Amino acid sequence: MRIAMIGGGYVGLVSAACFAEFGTEVAVVETNPHRLAALQEGRIPIYEPGLDKLVADNIEAGRLSFGADIAAAVRGAEAIFIAVGTPPRNGDGHADLTYVFAAAEQVARAMDRFAVIVTKSTVPVGTGRRIAEIVRHARPDLDFEVASNPEFLREGSAIGDFMRPDRVVIGTQTERAGGSERSQEILRRLYRPLYLIEAPILFTSLESAELIKYAANSFLAMKISFINEMADLCERVGADVHDIARGIGLDGRIGRKFLHAGPGFGGSCFPKDTLALMRIAQEAGASSRLVEATVQVNDARKASMGARIMSACGGSVRGKVVAVLGLTFKPETDDMRDAPSIPIIHRLVENGASVRAFDPAGMDAARPVLPSQGVCYCEDAPDAADGADALIVLTEWNEFRAISPRRLRELMRGDVVIDLRNIWEPDAMADAGMRYSSIGRPDGRTTGTSSREAG
Ligand code: NAD
Ligand code: UDX
Repeated sequence: MRIAMIGGGYVGLVSAACFAEFGTEVAVVETNPHRLAALQEGRIPIYEPGLDKLVADNIEAGRLSFGADIAAAVRGAEAIFIAVGTPPRNGDGHADLTYVFAAAEQVARAMDRFAVIVTKSTVPVGTGRRIAEIVRHARPDLDFEVASNPEFLREGSAIGDFMRPDRVVIGTQTERAGGSERSQEILRRLYRPLYLIEAPILFTSLESAELIKYAANSFLAMKISFINEMADLCERVGADVHDIARGIGLDGRIGRKFLHAGPGFGGSCFPKDTLALMRIAQEAGASSRLVEATVQVNDARKASMGARIMSACGGSVRGKVVAVLGLTFKPETDDMRDAPSIPIIHRLVENGASVRAFDPAGMDAARPVLPSQGVCYCEDAPDAADGADALIVLTEWNEFRAISPRRLRELMRGDVVIDLRNIWEPDAMADAGMRYSSIGRPDGRTTGTSSREAG
C-alpha cells in the first residue's frame, strides 16, 4: 500500500514514520526548504524522542521518502493525508485554513486515480465538506472521497501515542450515494496493525470526527484549568493540590491524568483549539461557556505568574539575576508555541531582570521569541543557576529534578526558588535553606518568608 503525507511537521512526520513502520510506503511532501533539506539529509528537524531511529530505519527499508514534488508523491497513493498547520487566524481565534485549502487544491491537481483525501490536521467542523468542494471544483473529472482522521498524539510521547493509541477516529462521508466503503476499507487496511492490538477504531461522520478532536482537547484543557483553580484555592486554605489531584483522580469517573497543576497550559494545540471551538460554537449559535471559562482561567493564570514571581523576589527583580530552567511548553519537545516562558521572560526583562536561561532542546526555537537583550543562554542547568539571585522552573524536564536543593544552594547567590511545576519537595528545599514556593502546596518547614507572605 502507498500513501502520501502533505506536511512533514510534528504530526505529519511522526504519522508518516509510524505508517511506514506499519509496512506502508509513505511519500512525505514538505514545502519548508529548511525542513525538507534536513529530512533529505537524514536529519530530523524537530526534537521528538525515538523519531530519528524510526525515520532512519524506514528510509533504509525504502518505505519512507521526502520531497517537494506533490505530483510524484500523490501518484499511485490510495490515501492522501493533509497534515499542515491550522494556526489561529489573526485576531479572531478561528482556525486559519489557508494551508489546508491550498494543500487540497494542490492534491486535486496532482491526483491520477481514485484516492481518499484525509485531514489529519485539526480542522473546524465543515472543513472536510469544503475540501470536497475545492477538489470537485478543481477536478470535476476526479473520483475521490474525503475523510477526517484527527490525530491525538502528544509531543514528547508522539510515537507511543501513535502506535498504541487509546482510539483512532475516522470520519467519512456517510451520506454519500453509494456510501463511503472505499475510504473505510483503505483506512481499515492502513490501521490494520492497530486492530491486532485491539485499539478501538471508531467510524463516524465527517462532522463528528472533526468535532471529537476539538472536544477532546478542550475537555483536557478544562481539566487543567480546573486543577489550576484548585491549586490557587489550596494555597489559600492550606491544602495540598497533589493530594486533591490524587484524591479526585482515583475516582475512575474523573481519571488521574491531566490533573497536574502548573503555570497554565501552552503548546501548539490547547490554546488554539479551545479558541477555535469557541468560534465554532458561536457560529453555530450554540453556547460554549465552559470552554470560554477554560480559556479565561488559563489566560489569567499565565498573566498572574509574572506577579507571583515578582512577589517571591521581594516585589522587584530590577538588577537581579534570574535563572530560568525550561523554556518549551512541556518537556521532551523543542516546541515553543504558546509556551508560558515567553510572557514570563518578557515581563522579567521589562522589569529590569537579567535572565540566565537553559532548556535541553528548545534553545534554538526560543531565541527568536524571547527578548533580544537581557537573556543569556546557558550551557546547562547548573550554569544557569550559577550566581543567580532567584531561580524559576518553567518546564519539568527530568534532568532538572536530578539537581539537589543543596547543590542549588551552593550554586546560587540568592535563595529564592519558584517552582511552577512542583519538581522539588518543599521540605528538602527548606532544609537546604532555600525560600521555596511552588504551586498549590504548603511551603516547606522554612522559617523564611513564603511567596504569599512576601506578596
Ligand atoms: P507544523 O507547523 O509543525 O507542520 C506543518 C508542516 O506543513 C510545516 O512543516 C509546513 O512547512 C508544511 N506545509 C504547509 N503547507 C504545505 C503544503 N501545501 N505542502 C507541503 N507541506 C506544507 O504543524 P504540526 O504541529 O505538525 O500540526 C499540524 C496539524 O496537526 C495542525 O492542525 C495541528 O493542530 C494538528 N495537531 C498537532 C499536534 C501536535 O502535537 N503538534 C497534535 C495533534 C494534532
Ligand atoms: C495535546 C493533547 O494532549 C494531544 O492529545 C493533542 O493531539 C495535541 O495537544 P501536547 O500539546 O503535545 O498534546 O501536550 P500535552 O501533554 O497535552 O500538554 C499541553 C499543555 O498542558 C502543556 O503546556 C502542559 O504543560 C500542560 N499540562 C498538561 C498541564 O499543565 N497539566 C497537565 O496535567 C497536563
